[in-house]
Amino acid sequence: MSHSQFPYSRPRRLRASANIRRMVEENHLSASDFIAPLFVMEGTGVKEEIASMPDYYRFTLDLLMDEVRKIEDLGIPSVLLFAKVPDEKKDNKGTEALNPDGLMQKAVRAIKDECPNLVVMTDVAMDPYSSYGHDGIVDNGQILNDESADLLAKMAVSHADAGADFVAPSDMMDGRILMMREALEEMGHANTGIMAYSAKYASSYYGPFRDALDSAPGFGDKKTYQMNPANSLEAVKEAITDEQEGADIVMVKPGLPYLDIVRAVKESVHVPVSVYNVSGEYSMIKAAAQNGWLNEEEAMMEALIAFKRAGADLIATYFAKDAARLL
Ligand code: PBG
Repeated sequence: MSHSQFPYSRPRRLRASANIRRMVEENHLSASDFIAPLFVMEGTGVKEEIASMPDYYRFTLDLLMDEVRKIEDLGIPSVLLFAKVPDEKKDNKGTEALNPDGLMQKAVRAIKDECPNLVVMTDVAMDPYSSYGHDGIVDNGQILNDESADLLAKMAVSHADAGADFVAPSDMMDGRILMMREALEEMGHANTGIMAYSAKYASSYYGPFRDALDSAPGFGDKKTYQMNPANSLEAVKEAITDEQEGADIVMVKPGLPYLDIVRAVKESVHVPVSVYNVSGEYSMIKAAAQNGWLNEEEAMMEALIAFKRAGADLIATYFAKDAARLL
């Protein structure tokens, strides 16, 4: 009998007390792991709860400032901005997306003014601006790739002009990271980073987010650009491609149902890997907790540590503030 077998080996020795457990803990969370998503809307004096995301809000810019100060005070280094665009400003060309005085651009400037050290990331995708609710330009029921990528590159430049530290393309068009990197370099934004949503799946877990931004696709689904949940090879290929095209950070999305993908991507690239703990994952825990079926804090922390265990370096999560408060 080997001495690494029972009774010589007793794994419970390393679980015997809180201090021993703490000593042998392999993964740790800290507020610096978190990216806090923020929903911005037009107007003043409004902070409204998103119906399908309990305790999460859309803010007008004036009230957003208080929120970003709170985020910074909690030690969270970064925010990820999403703009809710009124219907009358939506079209099929992303006109409003390129408006230098658009909501996103104004939000970036206001946040950098208020909290210059906060790392401001912007969502780059057409869906909140699209009359079709798609992430690219629609032609005859098809989502055009190169024309969309070209527009997305212009959006990235517009966000960088406003002062964004990172642009975060969430569209899944082919070649967009290269086009974006080239456009940023050309327009004098060599220091603007790209966090690429590299492996983004066509997921049902985005439902509450689409309520938050009123951005659900008007026809069809997103399966010709977002990935098939049955696949993992192409996730690795997408992440490697994005790294080669100039992405500074690659992302896997959603999070909890895709921890295997986080691990596979982590082992395949040489840039930090982020994971998006998406709206549906947030709302499931919230709903269960509201029903008294789960302990909210414990379920939240267990989900977040799972991302670290899977290999994530950064976690975009609606729980950022709650978790930072506990840490
Ligand atoms: C759109 C976008 C989506 C999310 C982030 N950017 C939704 C979608 O692709 O339909 C989802 C985020 C979440 O669910 O929390 N480009």
